[in-house]
Amino acid sequence: MTVSPITNEPEIAIRPDPEACARTAADMIVSALIDAVAERERAHWATTGGSTPAAIYRNLAMPPLRDRVPWEFVELWLGDERFVPADHPLSNAKIAEADLLQIGALSGQSGTGSSGADVVGRRTAGAPIPAENVHPIPTGQAIAEGVGPIWAAQRYAETLRELGPPVEGRWPAFDLMLLGIGPDGHVLSVFPGSETFDKDDTVVGVPAPTHVEPHVARVTLNPRVLDVARRIIVVAHGEGKAAILAEVLGPERDERRWPAQLARRAGATWILDEAAASALGQ
Ligand code: 6PG
Repeated sequence: MTVSPITNEPEIAIRPDPEACARTAADMIVSALIDAVAERERAHWATTGGSTPAAIYRNLAMPPLRDRVPWEFVELWLGDERFVPADHPLSNAKIAEADLLQIGALSGQSGTGSSGADVVGRRTAGAPIPAENVHPIPTGQAIAEGVGPIWAAQRYAETLRELGPPVEGRWPAFDLMLLGIGPDGHVLSVFPGSETFDKDDTVVGVPAPTHVEPHVARVTLNPRVLDVARRIIVVAHGEGKAAILAEVLGPERDERRWPAQLARRAGATWILDEAAASALGQ
């Protein structure tokens, strides 16, 4: 009899280019959402910001993938957010609204015809997640009320308690977390040496990082939430990520130094293009 070794390592999927990474990620997201709805009647998905998700969202927002997901049972959350209003170019929620939900096209405001919405042809754009299932971090409201990231973090933690996924231990256990990796090895808005590692709050306000762009304050889920997520998908591409990926996936484990190692666990899949994977194992 052979016994497989028990490892706490993720699956690594290497694809030729960013477009292929986006297609693979979108396929895996579809499966994760379908499975979660089948098993638990709801799929709680915490998504990411940065440059990674837009292409993935566009795959999800059009047939055939769009038509496979029971979107009415999907709850969309943000893993982290920049402390800017929701319509700001740096907003993580804005990327989801533009490319996944395609709200501009649905409201007839795209103005370019590029979104694929066509009322006459009965073609609609976007993933039809009900508005009440979309949960942006209330940074815009905080800014309007003259309060800071900690206020937005506390409100989001309350929303999570009320409408979020079941709690495991003390943390909400998302069915799916989609993540990008920063050039310094950060994940969510948990930067190397982050104080969030010493916090008990489910959602944490983070001062503006000075070593990576954009230099704006953030609101992030507590790093420990990654320990209980049922499924994690990490996507990274480009030569610029090769060196940090070699460290994060290298022999040494130190999650405070390389927070992306929080996602280096069983139940996670890392989707890398060949350029990003080029320094692995060297
Ligand atoms: C953010 C993020 C962050 C991001 C990484 C990767 O708000 O900046 O959520 O964790 O995912 O920095 O960013 P790219 O996808 O742009 O490489």
